[in-house]
Amino acid sequence: MRIFEQLESQVRSYIRSFPVIFERSKGAYLYDEQGRAYIDFFAGAGTLNYGHNHPKIIEAMIAYLQNDGILHGLDKATSAKKAFLQTLSETILEPRHMDYKVQFTGPTGTNAIESALKLARMVKGRSNVIAFTNAFHGLTMGSMAVTGNAFYRDEAFVNRANVSFMPFDGYFGEEVDTSLYLRRFLEDGSSGVDLPAAIILETIQAEGGVNVARDEWLRSVEKICRDFDILLIVDEIQVGNGRTGRFFSFEESGIRPDIITLSKSIGGGLPLALVLLRPELDQWKPGEHTGTFRGNNLAFVAAKEALEYWSDSVLGEWVKHNSAILKEGLEALVQDFPEIGMSARGRGLIYGLEIPWSGMAKEVSANCFQKGLVIELAGASDTVLKFLPPLIIEEETLREGLGIIKEAIGEVLREREARMGEVFGDR
Ligand SMILES: Cc1ncc(COP(=O)(O)O)c(C=O)c1O
Repeated sequence: MRIFEQLESQVRSYIRSFPVIFERSKGAYLYDEQGRAYIDFFAGAGTLNYGHNHPKIIEAMIAYLQNDGILHGLDKATSAKKAFLQTLSETILEPRHMDYKVQFTGPTGTNAIESALKLARMVKGRSNVIAFTNAFHGLTMGSMAVTGNAFYRDEAFVNRANVSFMPFDGYFGEEVDTSLYLRRFLEDGSSGVDLPAAIILETIQAEGGVNVARDEWLRSVEKICRDFDILLIVDEIQVGNGRTGRFFSFEESGIRPDIITLSKSIGGGLPLALVLLRPELDQWKPGEHTGTFRGNNLAFVAAKEALEYWSDSVLGEWVKHNSAILKEGLEALVQDFPEIGMSARGRGLIYGLEIPWSGMAKEVSANCFQKGLVIELAGASDTVLKFLPPLIIEEETLREGLGIIKEAIGEVLREREARMGEVFGDR
C-alpha cells in the first residue's frame, strides 16, 4: 500500500475503509491481490447495479473495441449513441409514456446536476433553488450548494447563495408533514424565501442516511411545484436504474418530474451521465452547455446492454424477492440486539441500518471487512450502515452477507462491553 500513501492525496477515502489492493471482480464479489474474496454490499455506491464485469456487457464492449468502434466522439452522432438512444426510448421511456429529451453531460453525476440546475434557472429566469436537509447531489460548486452535509460544505469558504433548504420528509418525525411548511414559505411573501426556479430532491436520500420520502409527500411537493410554477428536478443518480425494483424510484408515487438526472448505473459500470428534460424545457442554444467527455461511447455500448434488462420484468421481480429477504434479515438483526436500539429502513435493494451508538457503525463496517464483506456508512454522523448490493446478487450471497453483519455486530458489542468492563469493572 506504500505507493498510495506516498503519492496519492490525503483526500483518498474508500481506500481507508477497505485497505487492500483489489485486483478483480465478478458479479457481487471483489477479489484482492492475494485472491481473497469479498462480498460487495456497496456496488460502487450504486454504479454496479448489474454486478461487476457482467458477461454480456463485457462481451459487447470487447466486440466494439475489436471492431475499432468510436471511443471518443464529443457529441457527434455515432452508432453506439444511436443504439443506446433507441434502446432507452424503446425500453424505458415509451413503455412509461415518458416524453423527454436526453441531454448528455460530462460523465459523472455532478455534471448532470450542474446542467439540470443551470437549465432550470435559465428557463425560469430565477436564481433561487430549493433543496432539502441531508441532500447529497455531488461536490462541484453548484451541486454542493444543494448538498446539506456540513462535512462537504466546510471545504472552502466561497459564497453558496441562491439555495434555500427545507426539511425533508420525516425531518421532524413521521407526524409532521414538512411539505405544508414548504407550501407556507412559498405562499408567504415575507418568508424570506424567493420563488425558486426549481425544487431538487432525491426520493430516497442515500448518502444522507437512507431517508425514504413517502409517496404522499412526493405528490404533495409535486403539487406545490405545479401551483407555484416551479420545476421539479428528481435526482435519480443513486436510487434510479432499478435500485427500488422499478427503473425510476419515483414510479410508484406517480409523480412526473420536469427534469431527471441519471448517472452511476446508467453506464452499466462505465462513466456516463445524462439529464432527461421535458421537451418544452429544451431551450439550450446549440453548444451552450458542452463538455469534452459528454457521451462516452464505450459506456453507451455497456449501457445499451444493461438497459436490455428492463425489456421484461425479471430483474424487477428479482429485486422484490431480494428486498424481502434483506428487509426480513435487518428486522431480525434489530430484534437480535434490542439493547442497541437499532432501526432499519429502505426500499428495494437500498436499506439503511441505523446504529445509534456513536462510532459503532464504523466499527461494524471495519469488522465486516475483516470477515470479507464490503459495506459503507451513510448519514450525517455516519451512524447508518448502507446496504447497496448489486441488483443481480444471488440469494445465497445476500444471506451470507447478512450472516457476516450479524457476527460483526455481536463481536463489536462484546468488544465494547469488555472495554466498558475494564473502565468500570471494579466499581
Ligand atoms: C444522489 C446523488 N446525486 C449526485 C451524486 C454525485 O455523483 P458523482 O459522484 O458521480 O459526481 C451522487 C453520488 O453519490 C448521488 O448519490
